[in-house]
Amino acid sequence: MGERFKRTLITSALPYANGPVHIGHLAGVYVPADIYARYLRLKGEEILFIGGSDEHGVPIALKAKAEGITPQEVVDRYHAIIKKSFEDFGITFDIYSRTSSEIHHKTAADFFRKLYDKGEFIEKTSEQYYDEEAKQFLADRYITGKCPHCGNERAYGDQCEACGTSLSPLELIEPKSAISGSIPVLKETKHWYLPLDKHEAWLKKWILEDHKEWKSNVYGQCKSWLDMGLQPRAVSRDLDWGISVPVEGAEGKVLYVWFDAPIGYISNTIEHSPNDWEKWWKDEKTKLVHFIGKDNIVFHCIVFPSMLKADGSYILPDNVPANEFLNLEGDKISTSRNRAVWLHEYLEEFPGKQDVLRYVLTVNAPETKDSDFTWKDFQAHNNNELVAVLGNFVNRVLVLTHKYFEGKVPACGEWTDYDKQTLEEFLQVKSEMENDLEHYRFRDALKEAMNLARIGNKYLADTEPWKVAKTDMVRTATLLNIGLQITANLAIAFEPFLPFTSAEIRRLIRKEHLNWEKLGRVDILEAEHLIDHPKLLFEKIDDEVIEKQIQKLQDAKKIMN
Ligand code: 2FM
Ligand code: ZN
Repeated sequence: MGERFKRTLITSALPYANGPVHIGHLAGVYVPADIYARYLRLKGEEILFIGGSDEHGVPIALKAKAEGITPQEVVDRYHAIIKKSFEDFGITFDIYSRTSSEIHHKTAADFFRKLYDKGEFIEKTSEQYYDEEAKQFLADRYITGKCPHCGNERAYGDQCEACGTSLSPLELIEPKSAISGSIPVLKETKHWYLPLDKHEAWLKKWILEDHKEWKSNVYGQCKSWLDMGLQPRAVSRDLDWGISVPVEGAEGKVLYVWFDAPIGYISNTIEHSPNDWEKWWKDEKTKLVHFIGKDNIVFHCIVFPSMLKADGSYILPDNVPANEFLNLEGDKISTSRNRAVWLHEYLEEFPGKQDVLRYVLTVNAPETKDSDFTWKDFQAHNNNELVAVLGNFVNRVLVLTHKYFEGKVPACGEWTDYDKQTLEEFLQVKSEMENDLEHYRFRDALKEAMNLARIGNKYLADTEPWKVAKTDMVRTATLLNIGLQITANLAIAFEPFLPFTSAEIRRLIRKEHLNWEKLGRVDILEAEHLIDHPKLLFEKIDDEVIEKQIQKLQDAKKIMN
């Protein structure tokens, strides 16, 4: 961890509670965050890993309206589904809370109030669309009309989903209120703005000069925002779902969801550690790391840091290792078009195969550019790597140990030069893995872990203990001792990535606790230690199973077209 920091606060983007979570969420944010958290825990470091649901914003209010239920009912439903999916996939949040909680409302309102009292906002009056029938101002999403760019009749006031252009409601041709269907009129309304322009100078230095080490996709996006010049951003909205703006004269106004959501990281910390939450947020010795997807970069690198700086008592993130997007079979994942692999559905169809998905999403993570999930690729990684390399190695070692030594770890004799060479390769893997993990290169780190299993497989193939056993039991004992030590090492190396498999390996070798410090050691299992009976870690996935998934996606496409 170095001298600079004493502890690490890991946050992962709070997903909107307006739908379940899919593989894109997992690949982009939650698996990498969990890998990092597990790795640091395995090293015995002090960490806190924050998650939670983002329960405000217009889409949630719209969904409630469409279904004739309250927004609270919408978020209650999805918060429960999302929370369960994360638990099922072994995402080890220290707390998974929600922004509709009382403590969050208070924390966010207090945060706003302090900035307000310090004069950190500017107030501005502007003209916005108002629905005279519904008697309310219309958020951008509540206005539909014709796209001025492509003619799509159902463009929204913030974006046209047909051509992807960002819009302002005033650009829409023939605007209509999504609430009453009436034609909206322009009316004056007052809002509070965070003057990002005033923060530009320090942001430029902080990011462009002091954080050159940030991932190039993150640094590049920040640079282009900063080069364009920052504008004041409204932090309130005319809406009836959210946190009321805590000042007089703000009736009918709530905090903008992107103002309150990142404060959710703070309120969840307070909920988790009411007595010492400040050490996580206000001590320079805390390393704050935000895991997010690329669409959240500006909020986490520019807006939220400006809020924290405006308050004056908070630390700033040390890194924001944002990922790009994961596509699905060559096309965008889309919640509204039901083009996704939903986590709860995956588990119904592949029960117990959490690690297979965690593996595939990590080796193919969108770390530097968008990547593509295909079912064929999923099958190939499972069959050719998890089954053929990792599962096969562990199984062979356990079977041979039972066959020749009644399931007891045989004593290690003298090492040959070849043994020493193998163990050296091994140690190299450890330092490579550490270097990759510390720098958020999780796909490379996982490839290194798989290399350990490959080294093990090659060792068995080259030394052939089943042949040696015919003439030399002392040498066979050494070979299997080394094989078993490698197996124990695999349990450690894979723990951040494949936690269920790692737990199963530990169960098989009957070693409950193994920490990172032990990785690279060959004395983890003492002679005579009894291990369990072999059991396969992975099974092959057949073509029919894969075809069925591909078909399912195509069927979903037909229904939507
Ligand atoms: O993009 C999203 O899904 C947002 N709900 C992320 C919020 S991250 C943080 F600010 F809470
Ligand atoms: Zn358009």
